[in-house]
Amino acid sequence: MEQAESVDEIESALRFHRNSPIALVPTMGALHAGHAALVEKARTLAPTVVMSIFVNPLQFGDPTDFQRYPRTMESDREMARQLDVDLLWTPSQLDIYPPDVQIPLIDPGDLGNQYEGAIRPGHFAGVLTVVSRLFDVVRPDVAIFGEKDRQQLELIRRMATKQERVEIIGVPTVREADGLALSSRNRFLTPQDRELALGVHSAISRAQEEGAHGVPTAMKVATEELRSLKVEYVELVDAKTWQPVKEDFIGEAILLIAAKVGSVHLIDNAMVRIG
Ligand code: PAJ
Repeated sequence: MEQAESVDEIESALRFHRNSPIALVPTMGALHAGHAALVEKARTLAPTVVMSIFVNPLQFGDPTDFQRYPRTMESDREMARQLDVDLLWTPSQLDIYPPDVQIPLIDPGDLGNQYEGAIRPGHFAGVLTVVSRLFDVVRPDVAIFGEKDRQQLELIRRMATKQERVEIIGVPTVREADGLALSSRNRFLTPQDRELALGVHSAISRAQEEGAHGVPTAMKVATEELRSLKVEYVELVDAKTWQPVKEDFIGEAILLIAAKVGSVHLIDNAMVRIG
């Protein structure tokens, strides 16, 4: 596995790979099996797989959340090696945001201020800005993101469609055996919180089971499963428009859930067939 830190290093390493497709897997590290699934998908799409690890300050509203974000670089390196990543890129803040270069903030549009964007103002502008910067440097043919962060995936898709430069591929959420979606933040859950967190997955499963009976029933059973949690939002949105569904909606919807468990912000989502 080749390794690069600065923009110059990654650019010169990539010169020897530009004659065939390049796949990029952007991450913030603290790697787990969810990230591994993205790399495995990337492998099937391009001969060169680049993984970036960069904890992006621009997408954290709260500086303490940024500071306490898990950083496990040594084990990440080892995992990237085992996953057969071709190029691991670990830029610094100065590499991504050079003080002398004006990096324009990317506006995520209305959807960027809804759901996750409503509780984390500026978050998606930060995500799109860093992803766009990573794309500018790596110039990948394809980039792989997880459905775990489905609103992020949707906004990146919309940005890429406008810019027409990279194909965006989504990968299904990887879960623990009991259904909890893997997340770098799960390590902060106490054993009791870990139990409580399962309510998020139960809400999804129950909504999927009851989806045939319509929106009010699906929302009711989901809300019941979330009763012991500090829910930040629970929304059923039209999978096509991403707007909240009306009570008589029939078709493919996405259930979006965020909850605070202890001090941990958990998000999850799933497709729910209504009617
Ligand atoms: P991070 O949280 O490290 O996630 C990196 C990628 O892994 C994202 O595409 C995310 O959706 C995916 N992922 C996380 N958990 C997953 C799971 N359980 N199953 C499948 N995929 C999963 O998302 C980010 O970083 C950042 O916002 C980033 C896109 C790198 C921009 O800074």
